[in-house]
Amino acid sequence: MIKSFFIRISSVVVAAVMMLAAAFVPTESYDVREPEDCLLNFSILSDAHIETTNLQRYRVFNKCLQDVRKIQSGNDAVIFLGDNTMNGQVIENMMFHGSVRMFLKKDQKVLPVVGNHDIGNDEGDPVKLRKRWCDFTNAFFGKDLDRPYYSEVIEGCTFIVLGPEANKDTFDLSMSEEQFSWLEGVLKQAAETKKAVFVFSHYPPDDATDMDGEPTDRLIDLLAEYNKTNDLFYFYGHTHMPLYLFWSFPESDGFPEVNLPRLTELGSGDDNKIIENTGVGAVVEVYGDRVIVRGRDFYRGEWRIESDGEACEKSYSLKNAEPKEKEEITTLFPFLPGLTAEENG
Ligand SMILES: [Fe+2]
Repeated sequence: MIKSFFIRISSVVVAAVMMLAAAFVPTESYDVREPEDCLLNFSILSDAHIETTNLQRYRVFNKCLQDVRKIQSGNDAVIFLGDNTMNGQVIENMMFHGSVRMFLKKDQKVLPVVGNHDIGNDEGDPVKLRKRWCDFTNAFFGKDLDRPYYSEVIEGCTFIVLGPEANKDTFDLSMSEEQFSWLEGVLKQAAETKKAVFVFSHYPPDDATDMDGEPTDRLIDLLAEYNKTNDLFYFYGHTHMPLYLFWSFPESDGFPEVNLPRLTELGSGDDNKIIENTGVGAVVEVYGDRVIVRGRDFYRGEWRIESDGEACEKSYSLKNAEPKEKEEITTLFPFLPGLTAEENG
C-alpha cells in the first residue's frame, strides 16, 4: 500500500516536471458513430516507447492522451498495447504512468500490455522488469498482478491480455503451459456469454512460442477454432507498421486481427519530425450486430483518412448478433378483425 502510494505520487511529480517542456494544443471533442446504440467502446494505443532522451515522443504521447479523453461517450477501457516504455526504466515508467494519471479520468479503466521493450528488449533483466511492470500496473490501475496476463469482463464482453513469460528471446509471445491452459479456460467461459471477445497481445499471433522459444501454432489454432462459432478479435502492435486498410486488418489466420502502429512514430532519420503517421491508434465501437474498428489520429484529433479519401476503418458483422427488439405488432393491431376481445386473448 505504501509502496503503491509512493509510486503514484513520485510518478505524477516526474511527469509534471517533464511535461513543462511540452506544448499542448487541445483538440475538438468527438464521439462514437452511433452513441445511442453503442454498447461499448474503447481506445487502443500501441508502442508509445516513452524515454527520457526523446521529449518529442513524450509530447506526442501527452497530446494523444488528451484526445483520448475528449470522446463524449467516454471510454469503457483504454488499452496500451505494449512497448509503453523504451527500456522499462523506473523514470520511463514514471513518465508513462504519471501522464496517464494526469490526462485520463481518475477512474478510467486502463488495460496495459507487456511489450518486449517494457522488459528490457533482450538487454535488461526480464524477471526484474516484469516485476516492475506489475508494481506500476498494480499501483496505477487497481490490479493485483504477479504475471503478465489477465482478463476482465467489461459490459459483458471478455477482454483478454496475453503476455511474454520467457526470460530470454523476449521478441516473441512466449506462453507457458499455465498461460495457455488459463486462456483455454477463459475462452470456455466467454463462449457461454455469446458476447464478443477481445484479445490483446503486443505480438502478432504467429510470433507465439513455447517457453524455450520454439515457434508454435497452438495459439492461432485455438483462436481460429473459437472464432468458428464465436466472435473474437485479436489486436497487436510490435511491427510499427503504419495503419492502412490494405495490410493492418488481416483475417487469414481464421479470426480478425488488427495491427496497431507505433503511436509515437516520428520522421525516419529525424526523431523530432511530426509526420502523417504520428499519433495514430484506434477506437473500437461495439454494437448489437457489429464491431467497428476506426483508425484515429489522436495527435491531430481526427479520424484516420487514407490518401484516396476513404476512412481507415473496418466493420465486422457479429455471428452472435443480439436480436433486435421485436416490433410490438399487437400495439399496431391489438385485435384480429372479426373476433371478440376474449377470442383475441
Ligand atoms: Fe515497439
